[in-house]
Amino acid sequence: MEDRQLLVLYGSQTGTAHDVADRVTREAKRRYFATRTLAMDDYNVTSLIQEQLVVFVCSTTGQGDPPDNMRMFWKFLLRRDLPSSSLSRLQFAVLGLGDSSYQKFNVVGKRLQKRIEQLGGEVIQDLGLADDQHDLGVDAVVTPWLSKLWDTLLNMYPLPPGLQIIASDICPPSKYKVHFLDTENGVGDHSVQSESESESSPDVTGQSESESSPDVTVDQPVTPVAAPSFLCPFHARLVSNRRVTSPDHFQDVRLIKLDTAGSGISYSPGDVVMVQPQNSPDTVDEFISMLNLDPDRRFQLEQNDADSPLPPHIPNPCSVRWLVSHYLDINAVPRRSFFELLWYHAGGEPDSDAQLEREKLAEFCTAEGQEELYNYCNRVKRNIREVLQDFTKTCAQIPFEYLFDLIPPLQPRAFSIASSPSAHPDELHILMAVVRYRTKLHLPRLGVCSNWLANINVEEEKKESRGGGGAATTVPIWVKRGTIRFPSDPNVPLIMVGPGTGLAPFRSAIHQRCAGGKGGLVLFFGCRSENKDFFCKDEWTDFTQQGLLKVFTAFSRDQEEKIYVQHRVREQGALLWKMIQEQNAYFYIAGNAKSMPDDVKEALVDVVSKQGAMTSVDATLYVQQLEKSRRFQVEAWS
Ligand code: 2AM
Repeated sequence: MEDRQLLVLYGSQTGTAHDVADRVTREAKRRYFATRTLAMDDYNVTSLIQEQLVVFVCSTTGQGDPPDNMRMFWKFLLRRDLPSSSLSRLQFAVLGLGDSSYQKFNVVGKRLQKRIEQLGGEVIQDLGLADDQHDLGVDAVVTPWLSKLWDTLLNMYPLPPGLQIIASDICPPSKYKVHFLDTENGVGDHSVQSESESESSPDVTGQSESESSPDVTVDQPVTPVAAPSFLCPFHARLVSNRRVTSPDHFQDVRLIKLDTAGSGISYSPGDVVMVQPQNSPDTVDEFISMLNLDPDRRFQLEQNDADSPLPPHIPNPCSVRWLVSHYLDINAVPRRSFFELLWYHAGGEPDSDAQLEREKLAEFCTAEGQEELYNYCNRVKRNIREVLQDFTKTCAQIPFEYLFDLIPPLQPRAFSIASSPSAHPDELHILMAVVRYRTKLHLPRLGVCSNWLANINVEEEKKESRGGGGAATTVPIWVKRGTIRFPSDPNVPLIMVGPGTGLAPFRSAIHQRCAGGKGGLVLFFGCRSENKDFFCKDEWTDFTQQGLLKVFTAFSRDQEEKIYVQHRVREQGALLWKMIQEQNAYFYIAGNAKSMPDDVKEALVDVVSKQGAMTSVDATLYVQQLEKSRRFQVEAWS
């Protein structure tokens, strides 16, 4: 069994690749592979030389970039000084997860495979190109790809004599063990709470005492010494949370100001702030009562699987309420593994409701049931709470420790920073649309992070902290380099196209430049209506009067026909060409993905073609050249 060592390395931005990597691991363990599973950046990349068998699972983010937790790994692999035979021991397979509605579909997986081959690795299975756009989601590719992988691997590493593949109906051990700390009423180590506990528990609704009780210290503001990070975020106070669209506008956009005094945070325009959100109290309460848990109960977490280290950012001991509020992503759309794991705990007497639930779950997990599962879950964006409402009998049977296996952790959210270190010292601003919509089933959907931030009531918070009552809500943040970089020379002109909240990085850059008295700035801003969502308008008056900034606006719905930023770009062709060709201006686009960035790029190609008297092929090459030299940059989000 000694050589049955499999390493699963993943690069995951939103958790999908991580989930698929966990699935590879579970299936590998059933085939007696000693399996380690790590995010690529948690793996010591120099050890790759010694590895024999690796499965890589990696997603491609919007603009064709690798996910954050594989960036260092990828940078290392790209080093030119690595000998071409460094990985000649390695046999490997790459499973890429992507979205074909983006231009650079699965490029990260493609590049990773190519690079490891260049370094001497031997591909044991064709690259998997899973597509989020597929009717059945990524599973349409993942499932057959994995089944082929196991055929290949069992050929290479036949099962040890006398052993069978472990049946898929044997529940794998949970990642962690949980020891409940004795509560006042003396209850010990139970998975779910009994009825009597539920009745006697003091506070099941609203923000419980335990949130601010002295033994749950993690949520208290701290001032770290090093730059704040995921493991040690800075807990910033919310200074203001102002709606910047008119009350009758369809979209609630907020300008959020956070106090970063003493945080050690430093950033440049173009950087990104990461926010670790909390689930809303009503969804937390609903989940806790659905699973009949005691929110105030505290537990100690212990490792139960050598390959699954404890999550470093959970307090230990931890309260049930803390766990559900801060750690479990109860509002996520569940992945396939959720149904697989749920199934192990389902069942009861023949023909009972519990047994019917088990049969339904079993059906979802078959190859034939994939379409039904997709329709039930992904197509209509049904979330974990809603699914559990449909499986109430099963809910009552889930051992508490399996919540860590079933439910993914809440991910931090990234926002382009909208403030300037020079103009807004000790503050960090976020320009954010509050995500609220209805699903195809007309169920309300509230974005976890944006609604959490939007609901923090600054006045109440002030009163609370003045009155010395409970600690005011703070926002755990840290800063990362963004994809957009501005030139360090403040004399280089900037052309910025940022409709809607795409304005954020440009608000940062404009304030930064103007604070130093420098200009050469052109902003194209687009929104629906001058009176409803032309936010930050007043901030430009002084700068335009001083001749530092020119603003061109496109109000798409203030007249019959749509006017978009790309129309204004075309209209200003002569000015833009002069700035680009004669003054070496940089050109930036930021905002919601869909077709806007491509449409604006096309407008720029037209400008270059017309003003520079070039064929459209030459103009395209010209813009490509700008892109190569980083004079054309895009940051898009969905
Ligand atoms: P619309 O909603 O009227 O279509 C900010 O969201 C602004 O971007 C809105 O005015 C929106 O217009 C506009 N917008 C939508 N699609 C766009 C596209 N493909 N290119 C440029 N602007 C777009």
